[in-house]
Amino acid sequence: MLAGLRARPRAVPARWFYDRRGSELFEEITRLPEYYPTRTERAILEAHAGDVARLAGPGRAVVEFGSGSSAKTPLLLAAVAPAAYVPIDISGEFLRESSEELGTRFPGLPVLPVEADFLRPLALPQEIDARERLGFFPGSTIGNMGAVASVDLLRAMAATLGSGSMLLIGIDRVKDPATLVAAYDDAAGVTAAFNLNLLERANRELGGDVPVDAFRHVAIWNDEASRIEMHLEAVRDIAFTLGGDAFAMLAGETIHTENSHKYGPRDARLLLRSAGWAPLAEWTDPDDRFALILAEARTEPAAP
Ligand code: AVJ
Repeated sequence: MLAGLRARPRAVPARWFYDRRGSELFEEITRLPEYYPTRTERAILEAHAGDVARLAGPGRAVVEFGSGSSAKTPLLLAAVAPAAYVPIDISGEFLRESSEELGTRFPGLPVLPVEADFLRPLALPQEIDARERLGFFPGSTIGNMGAVASVDLLRAMAATLGSGSMLLIGIDRVKDPATLVAAYDDAAGVTAAFNLNLLERANRELGGDVPVDAFRHVAIWNDEASRIEMHLEAVRDIAFTLGGDAFAMLAGETIHTENSHKYGPRDARLLLRSAGWAPLAEWTDPDDRFALILAEARTEPAAP
């Protein structure tokens, strides 16, 4: 955090959003009228979980990456008749809560949580050694990463899951900038509060006097990079201390807090192929706002 604030351009990793308050604000974002991704993805899953089940077949271990409080998981589990469910999350607290909930909802289904950072290949519970795997990575979380980090992550997932595995991934589509910007700059100001909470968290956890009211939330569409960017912009010249370090910012200076990359249909498929995942099927909503893609871990055939 401090290194990012000192760097030029100033940038703080998006994972800093998710303290308890930030996670609550994100849940609120998912219910906003402007924030279409969550409800669109859920509707696609409701309509097509049966198709996923048909293609994946029964008896797979469903492995969810960054399970968090995922409200979509039951839709998938109810459809695919899995042998086990393995939620992976860095937050042990969230993991235990949601595992218990799913355990009661699906009696008889082994729930085997793994508290780990899924950005690196990791060992899955040995109980599922003999099972084929279906990875689940909803929410367009992949959008937070750039091209290189996305491919690294998808390759790590292929390594974790093994060959013959499948991956069901949610990816947000490129669309008109007005719709995209509204989704990240809502009228009620919830996304602004989510962005500004990062500074409040820094004050709380690192010890500081960042004047939060001297910042405003900015969301812009960067067409060149095909992404929404969120920034915190100083509205006046300020000086503050954080974690014992002194900082000064001029009016108009920004801290870059998040990227949310958006993909066209071909971009999304190429991204998956680049990381060893061959797309098998793809489902979207009627307006093509969001895509759910089922892919299979497969090495590319040799060049012709
Ligand atoms: C959780 C990364 C998918 O990029 O849409 C929502 C986060 N940030 N509004 C997204 C977010 C602001 C979200 N992801």
